[in-house]
Amino acid sequence: MLMALSILIQLLVAGFVMFIPWLLWPRKSSDPYGLFHLSLNRLPNDDPRELPKTEWLNMGFWKDVTTFPDACQALAKKLIQAAQIKHGARVLDVGHGTGESLTFLLSNPSVNLISSLTGITSLTTHHNRSLERLSQIKVPKDTEINLYEGDAVYRPGAVRHPLDPNSHATFDAILALDCAYHFKTRELFLRQSFEHLAPGGRLLLRIFVWMQPNWKDGKVPRYIEQLERISFVDVTMEDISEDVFPGFVEFLKGRVLVGEYSDG
Ligand SMILES: *[C@@H]1O[C@H](CO)[C@@H](O)[C@H](O)[C@H]1NC(C)=O
Repeated sequence: MLMALSILIQLLVAGFVMFIPWLLWPRKSSDPYGLFHLSLNRLPNDDPRELPKTEWLNMGFWKDVTTFPDACQALAKKLIQAAQIKHGARVLDVGHGTGESLTFLLSNPSVNLISSLTGITSLTTHHNRSLERLSQIKVPKDTEINLYEGDAVYRPGAVRHPLDPNSHATFDAILALDCAYHFKTRELFLRQSFEHLAPGGRLLLRIFVWMQPNWKDGKVPRYIEQLERISFVDVTMEDISEDVFPGFVEFLKGRVLVGEYSDG
């Protein structure tokens, strides 16, 4: 069985890692519903009393785009294209937020018709909102949808989980667009994903790697070793830092200046 894995790598400059999650995921008290990201999706000409048209929650791929939703969609598209989703594929989307990537997978013309789409997210609000949003779009009638609420990693006792070792369900693609750094542990997630990939299936992750002068000899090879131990093959990595951080930081700076981050 051959399972390939593509990873988009980002090199992080130490200061940013503290800064960005704090801005994107404010303290619980100020965002009890986990819906803070909606404001990031609002475009300058949108009516502030209405919900924004998109609900992306990632750092974006800022190449030839200027808005947050476009950048987020570009990043999602990049990862999804690397998954090489074929007609009739079964796809698992891990950590899908309030469902924008699910919507994209179901309705963007660049994605082949999926036969089953499974999602898991750990926040109840995100799970609920995703269900609500999918009920508002036209889901292809041949596509089965299963949304789960829970941690990406299966733990004994979980009632329903797509990576349950007792379930024989497999996926042709497992996508983790923006949450691979939350996994506890990464090793468990990678093993469970491997067990649930169909032959020839692909796992796509976007990860952060701390920037070090000799990173090429350090963390990245260790990551690859870990994957190879689990028996993944065809591991490819692409460094996308240059098209993520400068654009994302510019975008946030603009927002901070106009006072979007007052803590109330
Ligand atoms: C999620 O939906 C369920 C079922 O409709 C409801 O009981 C629950 O209160 C909702 N939770 C949140 C946090 O929205």
